[in-house]
Amino acid sequence: MTGTPGTALPMTVPASGLPARVRIHEVGARDGLQNESTVVPTEVKAQFIRRLAEAGLGTIEATSFVHPKWVPQLADAERLFPLLGDIADIGDVELPVLVPNERGLDRALALGVRRIAVFGSATETFAARNLNRTVDESLAMFEPVVARARADGVAVRGYLSMCFGDPWEGAVPLGQVVRVAKALMDLGCDELSLGDTIGVATPGQVAALLAALAEAGVPTAAVGVHFHDTYGQALSNTLAALQQGVTTVDASAGGLGGCPYARSATGNLATEDLVWMLDGLGIETGVDLGALTATSVWMAEQLGRPSPSRTVRALSHKE
Ligand code: HMG
Ligand code: MG
Repeated sequence: MTGTPGTALPMTVPASGLPARVRIHEVGARDGLQNESTVVPTEVKAQFIRRLAEAGLGTIEATSFVHPKWVPQLADAERLFPLLGDIADIGDVELPVLVPNERGLDRALALGVRRIAVFGSATETFAARNLNRTVDESLAMFEPVVARARADGVAVRGYLSMCFGDPWEGAVPLGQVVRVAKALMDLGCDELSLGDTIGVATPGQVAALLAALAEAGVPTAAVGVHFHDTYGQALSNTLAALQQGVTTVDASAGGLGGCPYARSATGNLATEDLVWMLDGLGIETGVDLGALTATSVWMAEQLGRPSPSRTVRALSHKE
């Protein structure tokens, strides 16, 4: 055991049946900032990403190459990317970006992007609202994107939104989620990220979906989890996923986030809350919790409001 109550680190007490290491896929600069009403200056975004890399995060989703009118907060992708050139020098840092279609892929490849994510939906309503397509039309839109990216040696993540519930359609049948998940993997995605876009999932549901996917031939090793924390379930859902063998967890520094096209989506699982739990379990992440918290406190100042992360608030509390 290390750490004592009252210090800024949890006591380390491992539990059985959990992975030795977790890869955190940091989404604050994309999922977080896409949902801010104020547009953050490009230089501040670059500094945010640099500080996240210095805090030890190895996968930092940087921005989106979507239609600028759909997500004006990330319309500066062309100006941002050149400012990130030196970040690879900090360590082995990957900077994936969201790409919905071939136009987005062209823009990303022109800037030397080596890792992209397409983003599908398990429900028709969200596919229409987020992509202006049916579910199957969106898969058809992704097909040439994934094929061209793979032919170019670019890694492709497939996001799947509304895996656990949809604000317009309510409960989402498991079979519906598995069908689209499998279709994304069949297109050639290297990795699948299961989105609880509106944060309604509970741990049994997470275990059931992972089991159904494994049975359908989607290996758990290729699956990441992407929990929003609307109902305070994100950490319990993460633990359930780790117990099923998942080792990739999406999180957002300071708990920034939401989705502009899904009402009631609040911030993602806060990276600090995740790291506190993983540190306590003795699971390696490579992240320096102090440096990360300082980054989120700084970012909250830039945004003019406090971080919703419980861990950030606890660690930055001054008597
Ligand atoms: P559309 O209006 O159907 O586009 O939007 P289109 O294909 O008909 O093209 C219309 C015009 O847009 C054309 O220009 C295109 O060139 C241009 P025109 O010929 O008329 O002058 N265009 C573009 N311009 C720049 N970059 C592009 C691009 N594509 C087309 N990439 C589209 C379809 C997919 C583009 C649109 O719906 C879109 O951009 N959607 C993005 C929405 C979004 O980013 N949502 C948030 C991310 S998803 C999320 O947050 C969930 C996640 O976190 C997981 C979870 O929590 O569940 C990942
Ligand atoms: Mg999200």
